[in-house]
Amino acid sequence: MDSFDWGNLPFGYIKTNYNVRCYWRNGEWGEIEVSSSEIINIHMAATCLHYGQEAFEGQKAFRCPDGKIRIFRIEENAARLQSTSRGILMPEVPTELFVEMTKKVIKLNEEFIPPYESGASLYIRPLLLGTGEQVGVHPADEYLFLIFVTPVGPYFKGGFATNDYAIVRNFDRAAPLGTGIYKVGGNYAASLLANKLAHDAGYASEFYLDAKEKKYIDECGAANFFGIKNNTYVTPESTSILPSITNMSMQQLAIDLGMKVERRQIPEDELETFEEAGAVGTAAVISPIGKIVDLQSGKEYVISKDGKPGPISEKLYNKFRNIQYGIEPDIHGWNTVID
Ligand code: PLP
Ligand code: COI
Repeated sequence: MDSFDWGNLPFGYIKTNYNVRCYWRNGEWGEIEVSSSEIINIHMAATCLHYGQEAFEGQKAFRCPDGKIRIFRIEENAARLQSTSRGILMPEVPTELFVEMTKKVIKLNEEFIPPYESGASLYIRPLLLGTGEQVGVHPADEYLFLIFVTPVGPYFKGGFATNDYAIVRNFDRAAPLGTGIYKVGGNYAASLLANKLAHDAGYASEFYLDAKEKKYIDECGAANFFGIKNNTYVTPESTSILPSITNMSMQQLAIDLGMKVERRQIPEDELETFEEAGAVGTAAVISPIGKIVDLQSGKEYVISKDGKPGPISEKLYNKFRNIQYGIEPDIHGWNTVID
């Protein structure tokens, strides 16, 4: 695909050649189907359209310097989709099916995997939809599991460069006992307005406090939060945030680097004590935080005094990327290699 400017790809949708699909009917998964159409044909009373019975995932594949393709922690994405399925009464996609379909869709679209030097990657988007019709609020009898891929560049401006975030006290993304721990589309619909207001005010993303007390840090838009101080990686414990696979991996890398890890509630005021902080997720990788501004109180928490990413964030970022690219040994067995 020489026509792409691989080094300047946005985080957006680009048409590729194929997607893969599998239908759940009569209580079981069918055969894997390959499609070259971007369109799905769906019943107008499908539960995904009316009652939000749908979920998605997001992971990345990389073209590595050794010529191989690596996918990062794909079993964890399968497990999270299974957890989401249990949460909103959808059939679970077995890990083997999830992995087989992922490998297949990558192989079918190999020419769209950005070259290593570009720093871009192939974003993999699994999607599980309640396709059976219902008018009452009930789970569907039929489902479609589909995976498409699209080459992407960085999610936040500048890639590994600091960005500023806006605390939005007048919005909640998810309730404490709601669906925040699941990757369902409704959570993202609930974030659109807050996200727009934050963008319009010049911030990279909205930043949520816990919905109950408005006291503790929850998430940075579509990414988890971490702060660094006293050689410790601190990240929120909350019942309303998505369990990020990238964050989980960074915690392990922090331990590998001899740091301590704390998962606990983080009061908003504590933000001023962090030496470094970042947004962490598949799309963002680590997006270092410059400052966080509480839009209601006007209070500013300046994390990066010189506007540059901090040294520990940089170390974690480089280690993480080097593992993804097969440059450093994959001692935790995170990668699936496709030859
Ligand atoms: N939080 C939210 C709300 C997300 O959408 C994502 C992205 O998937 C994350 C956190 C980061 O999770 P992961 O590292 O598994 O991509
Ligand atoms: C992620 O994969 O990290 C995301 O948050 C995806 C985002 C575009 C919803």
